[in-house]
Amino acid sequence: MKCVYFDRHLCRSCTLLETPYAEQLRDKQARVAETLATRVADGVWLPARASAETRFRSKAKLAVGGTLQAPTLGITDADGTGVDLRECGIQDEAIWDVVPDLAGFVTCAGLRPYDVTRREGALKFVLVTANTDGELMVRFVLRSEDDVPRLREALPALLERLPQVRAVSANIHPEHKAVVEGDLEIPLTPEQTLRLPVGDVTLHLRHRSFLQTNTDVAGDLYRQAAAWADAVHALNVLDLYCGVGGFALHLAGEHRRVHGVEIEPTAVESARLAASERSTAGDVTFEVGDASVLDVPAEDSADLVVVNPPRRGIGEHLARTLDGSGAHTVIYSSCNPTTLAADLEHLASFDVTAARLFDMFPHTHHAEVAVLLRRRL
Ligand SMILES: C[S@@+](CC[C@H](N)C(=O)[O-])C[C@H]1O[C@@H](n2cnc3c(N)ncnc32)[C@H](O)[C@@H]1O
Repeated sequence: MKCVYFDRHLCRSCTLLETPYAEQLRDKQARVAETLATRVADGVWLPARASAETRFRSKAKLAVGGTLQAPTLGITDADGTGVDLRECGIQDEAIWDVVPDLAGFVTCAGLRPYDVTRREGALKFVLVTANTDGELMVRFVLRSEDDVPRLREALPALLERLPQVRAVSANIHPEHKAVVEGDLEIPLTPEQTLRLPVGDVTLHLRHRSFLQTNTDVAGDLYRQAAAWADAVHALNVLDLYCGVGGFALHLAGEHRRVHGVEIEPTAVESARLAASERSTAGDVTFEVGDASVLDVPAEDSADLVVVNPPRRGIGEHLARTLDGSGAHTVIYSSCNPTTLAADLEHLASFDVTAARLFDMFPHTHHAEVAVLLRRRL
């Protein structure tokens, strides 16, 4: 992929851009195989699931910089200066299409870009998520509630111009912190949910919920987990760190019960909504809970446990709990092979019988790996 921002050293986020994609994928596969070598034998790796090389990212975190008359939407460089990335080639086409309109909106609405060095201004980020039908969720991260009225006033013109924008909200983030968003979310449209067809199901996304950034590859990750669940004849599944329910809804079936556990309440609401809309039979339930301290009993519990934690992994406590549980199978999907390797050491009663790299993050060293673990007889 050619990128003018990369060539001009304005953005170097896609660190592997100069390496041909086939070579990137080969190297990444070799690296994850090496990281996991003590627990994952060479022969169990399935062929890596490649990604599209461009337009694969369905969510954009656009830092706002520049001036009110000429705002930049992209990143902020080391000096705090805004760098406009409106033609970034990894963004979904639907996001790419609307960035110029969003920049124009910033000016029309009078939302002064936030100056990171001086700690002045109103608008910090514009967060945009796209579904595969080109519909969008847009969130404006503001420093204070004082700017919400001017955003509200200008919004009808934006919605008329961009009818594909389904859900809009203002996130209030008064502090000067590395985290992108604050605690208060103010809805600005009646709809606050984005429908999200992924793989074989339709999910729903609200603010604060995690979304796999590469929808196409995520669909195949969920399908892979469902195929593994079928192969081991799982009847009773626990989906830990379930988010908005991607794994749970793919695995649920007429003869299979699935229960999801997730710490973020809005994600659980969305998962329940998606479950209520399914036409196929199957018992799927979700609860708000902390998976890391869960008690999974040795008997009368799930026969299959799916875990898909954040980068820190599931940790020793949960790994040992699963090791001593009644589960005969674990599917572990990880975005950090290093913590996956550490967690596998505590799942000593299981063998890894299949593994696969899902390349959600082309042009970077990041890797998503799913492994199938079967309890040793
Ligand atoms: C990598 S995401 C996976 C989400 C989901 N499985 C998917 O495919 O979209 C990790 C999820 O774990 C949730 N989470 C983080 N810590 C948690 C905890 N202690 N207990 C339960 N869920 C947690 C996050 O809110 C996030 O939704």
